[in-house]
Amino acid sequence: MCGIIGYIGSRQAQSILLNSLSRLEYRGYDSCGIAVCGSGIGVYKDAVRVEMLQKVSPPLDGSVGIGHTRWATHGEPSPMNAHPHCDCNSKIAVVHNGIISNYQRLRQQLTSEGHNLVSETDSEVIPHLIEKYYEGNLEKAVEAALDEVEGSYAVVVLMVGEPKLVAAKKDAPLIIGVGDGENFIASDVPAILDYTNRVIYLEDGDIGVITKDGVTILGNKTGVDRKEHTVLWSSQDVQKAGYEHFMLKEIHEQPRVIRDTLGEYMLSTDPGVERGPILDDSVEDLLILACGTSYHAGLIGKYVIEELLGIPVRVELASEFNHRDRTIASMMAIAITQSGETADVLIPMKKLRQAQTRTLVITNVPGSTATRIANQTVYTKAGPEVGVAATKTFVAQLVALYELALSYPGVNPRIREHLIAELRQLPAKVQQVLDNTHQIENCARYLSRYDNVFFIGRGINFPIALEGALKLKEISYIHAEGYAAGELKHGPFALLDRDTPVIAIVAHDNTYGVMLTNIKEVKARKSPVIAVADDVDEVIGELVDLVIRVPRVGSIFSPVVNTVALQLLAYHTARHRGCSIDFPRNLAKSVTVE
Ligand code: F6R
Repeated sequence: MCGIIGYIGSRQAQSILLNSLSRLEYRGYDSCGIAVCGSGIGVYKDAVRVEMLQKVSPPLDGSVGIGHTRWATHGEPSPMNAHPHCDCNSKIAVVHNGIISNYQRLRQQLTSEGHNLVSETDSEVIPHLIEKYYEGNLEKAVEAALDEVEGSYAVVVLMVGEPKLVAAKKDAPLIIGVGDGENFIASDVPAILDYTNRVIYLEDGDIGVITKDGVTILGNKTGVDRKEHTVLWSSQDVQKAGYEHFMLKEIHEQPRVIRDTLGEYMLSTDPGVERGPILDDSVEDLLILACGTSYHAGLIGKYVIEELLGIPVRVELASEFNHRDRTIASMMAIAITQSGETADVLIPMKKLRQAQTRTLVITNVPGSTATRIANQTVYTKAGPEVGVAATKTFVAQLVALYELALSYPGVNPRIREHLIAELRQLPAKVQQVLDNTHQIENCARYLSRYDNVFFIGRGINFPIALEGALKLKEISYIHAEGYAAGELKHGPFALLDRDTPVIAIVAHDNTYGVMLTNIKEVKARKSPVIAVADDVDEVIGELVDLVIRVPRVGSIFSPVVNTVALQLLAYHTARHRGCSIDFPRNLAKSVTVE
């Protein structure tokens, strides 16, 4: 959470900082601010979005500066709590992402020593500690200050009279962007794509020092070499390309995302194109760990892997797994995290690594922390996802899981061949859903009047009911619950009435008959029903109020087409309700706190 940017070069820093912050807003957007160093430090911050700060901030002169967009943890969103924070003499300015767990003790100590702290944040202790330890060398002062700090941090420090930026990290991401005659420090790659695609990933314990012409990294008090990488994402990838919202653009990118994630190995019919299996046959059981939407991908992965491979798969919410006393031994653990930075996922990954469990991560972000913990990485090729609601990265995770399962040597070759042929058709099938928006928009208009909605599914589409409900609630603020269709009668039936629509995902598989029975039970309680059903189904139209048609696909791939329809349903419902679709209230895309 929270986005950080730092710039040093020959250009005016202010507009670069503000532009970069606008690319980082998915990390947090309840307040923002910048500090620019000219003859002194000029700070402007407020509890507003970056777009507003761009309009109202006074000109701040200088070619070195830092900026921050916040997701509040300690203290409400307010101008005082917004970053950057300064020392007593406004000579040092700091932006921070993370949580300082011992800040209360540090705050008391600093106050008793005469420091005047003005915000409610944990972060404000950092500039004061640096002020306390500064004896002419900023790097040393930052190091001494951070030696006192417990918790997680990515910080960038600016000081009057020091023509450099100093950065440090522990359990929060930070990268250096390398330019010509200018350099950057940022939480994430999208912040710098307008200026450079040359990136150095900082490691925990590193202190990075950037000047206009150079980058130095000190690790464990001596210089270290960190490789420079060229990132393949471009600045176009983080623009709306004519769409009204990033979410809509990202939903429409999904045919391309499926093709790219499948890659040469799956798409080529040339037998010469081969890749070694990702899962070898020594794997006898699997543990999948993930949160939120990625957890739903994990649940689908369980159905696919158990069906095709016949090996048991346990799927756990990573945030719950963290607090178990005993680590459950497993042959292999798969973490699914689009950002690769979710604290709830990284913590158990580290524990499993220590316990010698083989770990594989499925992630969308090259160089993310999860890739550095895992033994093995499978990259999804969704490209940067800006909308806070995960869409294309979810579908890419499903494709990666299909590919992972199909790579297992034990899969029957005839079945594999058949499924790969179907996988190749999937981009076209998803395109058909995208071309059917008129029907979905009608349903969205209808749904937008209600305050409570249930989503029901069975079998491999039960996780899609969970995901459909999550998407709808997070962007439209309609209370939505996902249920296994058979479970409604075990309690939630008490809530059904004509004001509570039910969205039923009707798959043409072995759950079909019983699903129709469940729909009839719901209709008998007067709830309106919208079905998501395939275009071959001639029965469903008679039973329900509205139908969203999707193309018929093989049952293990039905979650993909169904989820795309439900993403569009959530999107258009939120649009009818006038919600902030790309940046829903209280949320952030990269959840780097527990
Ligand atoms: C919902 C959503 C979240 C994330 C969750 C995990 O649309 O995006 O539920 O799925 O925060 O994030 P990652 O996948 O980055 O670990």
